[in-house]
Amino acid sequence: MALFKDILAADQTLIKNESALEYEFVPKILPHREKEQQYLATCIKPLLQQRNGRNLLIHGPPGIGKTAATKWVIRDLEEETDELYVIYINCWQYNSTYKIVCEICNQIGYKFIQNKKTTDLYDIIANIINKNAGVFVFDEVDKVEDFDFLYFLLEKIYKKTIFLITNFKSWLLELDERIKSRLTPELVEFKAYNQSEVDSILKERVETAFFEKVWKTEAFKKISKRAGEIGDIRSGIYLLKQSALSAEDRSSKTIEVEDAESALKKIDDFTIKNSADLEDETKFILKVVKDNSGKKIGDLFKQYQKEGGKMSYKTFQRKLAHLDQNKFVTLKKQTGAGGNTTIVEKKLTDF
Ligand SMILES: Nc1ncnc2c1ncn2[C@@H]1O[C@H](COP(=O)(O)OP(=O)(O)OP(=O)(O)O)[C@@H](O)[C@H]1O
Ligand SMILES: [Mg+2]
Repeated sequence: MALFKDILAADQTLIKNESALEYEFVPKILPHREKEQQYLATCIKPLLQQRNGRNLLIHGPPGIGKTAATKWVIRDLEEETDELYVIYINCWQYNSTYKIVCEICNQIGYKFIQNKKTTDLYDIIANIINKNAGVFVFDEVDKVEDFDFLYFLLEKIYKKTIFLITNFKSWLLELDERIKSRLTPELVEFKAYNQSEVDSILKERVETAFFEKVWKTEAFKKISKRAGEIGDIRSGIYLLKQSALSAEDRSSKTIEVEDAESALKKIDDFTIKNSADLEDETKFILKVVKDNSGKKIGDLFKQYQKEGGKMSYKTFQRKLAHLDQNKFVTLKKQTGAGGNTTIVEKKLTDF
């Protein structure tokens, strides 16, 4: 058998820099977000003059540079100064006050968290950060289960800037009044890119990630057009990668239209996020949807309860809305004789 002969003999790879096709990759330049980045920087600047910073709620649909722009700004800040503590936390990963507080300790270099209560850790964090000032970024903040950590930061950290990032502007309404009135965030909306912006961002990414002349113009155009329609750079990057894999499978040295087409066929399978990142209760809801795809939301909730689900109907609805926004499930509004209802369907992907 010569299963691997082709691959080994060809000694070829189309991809020059694999990491540039990872979603976490923060490119050296981030075009079309200069204004937003400038604004974020303005909110942090007072901290460098021993004054208090400003808080922001950054919102907008998926895959349009909210995380990338923010990471870019804090990376720039860290290159300029060591004076501030800069904390970045993804709330998909750290979704409770305790987990967040432990992670803050980790990021400020405090290691002795074992057997300590949350309130002890609060004091430790305040002691360390209040010697100076802190920038706190809570990405995907709508995934947190409780807001005590916010209250703590607002009350006990004197000089700070807090950035909250979410897909849902309405998330702010869920916040407790005592937090809202202390936070008083300004809102920054990230709007979706237009087609020519998507083209230039993906072109740039192709130059970083691939060897020269690997991409056929027509193939690239197809991918970029689709990413523009979806309005999501992440899906564009996914398509670039899938096209390259298709070309490599054919042992081709160039990425042709047929590769782009085969990648486009897979886009329905594409979930924006990795389901492994979901917290347990959400995974459980996702499983119930998967086993009961196409049901009305009320019936699905009954099934969820039957299988041991404990959340209220409102929370259940909210979790489903998040799953919909992140393309794990589809919610379809339906008007029937009995009034309006929502049908919940799983996406094609087998997560
Ligand atoms: N202006 C840009 N230039 C270069 N790359 C970009 C730009 N905007 C977004 N990207 C890339 O697109 C991908 C998605 O961006 P990002 O992760 O920032 O999305 P997001 O708005 O935070 O989405 P979500 O709400 O789903 O978290 C990343 O790989 C990022 O590097
Ligand atoms: Mg993000």
